[in-house]
Amino acid sequence: MDTSANIARFYSVCRDVSTSVHSSTDVKEVLDLVVKLVTEAINAKGSLLRILNLETDKLELSAAYGLSERYLSKGHVSTHRVITELCMQNKVIIIEDVQADPRVQYPREAREEGIRMMLDAPLFLGDNVVGIVRIFFTEQRKFSDEELNFLVSIAEQCACAIDKARLIEKHKSMYDNLALQTEKLSALGRMAAGIAHEINNPLGGILLYSTNLFKKAPKEGPFRDGLEIIIQETMRCKTIIQDLLEFSREKEPEKTFANINNIIEKTLSMLENEFRLHHIRVEKLLSSEMPDILIDVNQMHQVFVNLLLNAVEAIQDQGTISIRSEIDPAQRCVRVETADTGRGIPPENISKVFEPFFTTKAKGTGLGLSVSYRIVWNHQGDIKVSSQPGQGARFTIEIPLLQNAPSKETKGQPHGTR
Ligand SMILES: Nc1ncnc2c1ncn2[C@@H]1O[C@H](COP(=O)(O)OP(=O)(O)O)[C@@H](O)[C@H]1O
Ligand SMILES: [Mg+2]
Repeated sequence: MDTSANIARFYSVCRDVSTSVHSSTDVKEVLDLVVKLVTEAINAKGSLLRILNLETDKLELSAAYGLSERYLSKGHVSTHRVITELCMQNKVIIIEDVQADPRVQYPREAREEGIRMMLDAPLFLGDNVVGIVRIFFTEQRKFSDEELNFLVSIAEQCACAIDKARLIEKHKSMYDNLALQTEKLSALGRMAAGIAHEINNPLGGILLYSTNLFKKAPKEGPFRDGLEIIIQETMRCKTIIQDLLEFSREKEPEKTFANINNIIEKTLSMLENEFRLHHIRVEKLLSSEMPDILIDVNQMHQVFVNLLLNAVEAIQDQGTISIRSEIDPAQRCVRVETADTGRGIPPENISKVFEPFFTTKAKGTGLGLSVSYRIVWNHQGDIKVSSQPGQGARFTIEIPLLQNAPSKETKGQPHGTR
């Protein structure tokens, strides 16, 4: 066949492979097509494609054409031998005489298969070899530049297909994880709600009777002290139960147009005593141009209480809490940031702080931030954390100026490290 006919044929194969790479999500389908088309286009006996398994470091057979089952069943090819050379040369390697070349791992089987000559083209992703295309010939022959260029270009397309498949696989496993997480959390929420309801009533009884007994107990003595401890601990249980109920309540926010600055002011004045008690200075920087936005006032209030109490607890004694609000016209959102000079969050915990029940406090419930997360999420907003250990933590909340109706209600937690 003349050169121009060859070029036309190579071009048509390249185009078919390229279409398949871009339209198919099944990498096996693409690679099967490649080995068939390449074998036919270059008049070879057959060809195969091996992909590097990153875990086992073996070149595993992924597609083959024109070769017998017996020959293909030889197993893995030594990665080291092939890849080192391909990396060094960064081009197609021609093994002229299969019987005499030390790189050939199975010369006897090759002879039985009628193979005289082989050609390896590396599949590169960046600087790394991720696999090879190996083409087999029954006779020794020469290769034109067009043929070699054609093979390099096909190898590039295969590398793209592998890259795309890995990306799809990665995303798929991310989404699978997320679905599992959401499922677990919603089951957890239902369970928590059930338990909380069951425990709430007896706790009320304990509290009622112990308070009555406390009132009647002699002013001095262990009886009264014991009752005081019972009352305190029961109150603590009630708080935990309240948090649990809040966490598990799948309640639509009751949104009205309100000013987020007013909610911040109200929260700050409510916690004034806490700040004074712990010698905490509060820096407030609230935007004077804050518009009213659609929010559930009580829920947002709860979010700020959670964030500010966490900040107080992180500072313990003496420090600064700053809170600022602003509108971001570019992002079309309202942003509120709280920052403290407390102990900060170690890097290994930063991805866990929004998880329900994650706490580093002896008396914590680990629910404050997960409740806050859900509330912000139900306002179609986002909440993020950043922290340098020893230098405090910063929480950023963004609520869109305009929310889509109906509100985006999530049953579980949103994904990602926040
Ligand atoms: N401002 C902060 N500084 C340091 N750590 C924080 C801060 N806010 C939250 N955390 C960490 O996140 C964890 C979870 O917080 P939260 O959900 O409110 O539960 P709790 O306060 O009951 O522990 C806390 O135990 C703490 O380790
Ligand atoms: Mg908390």
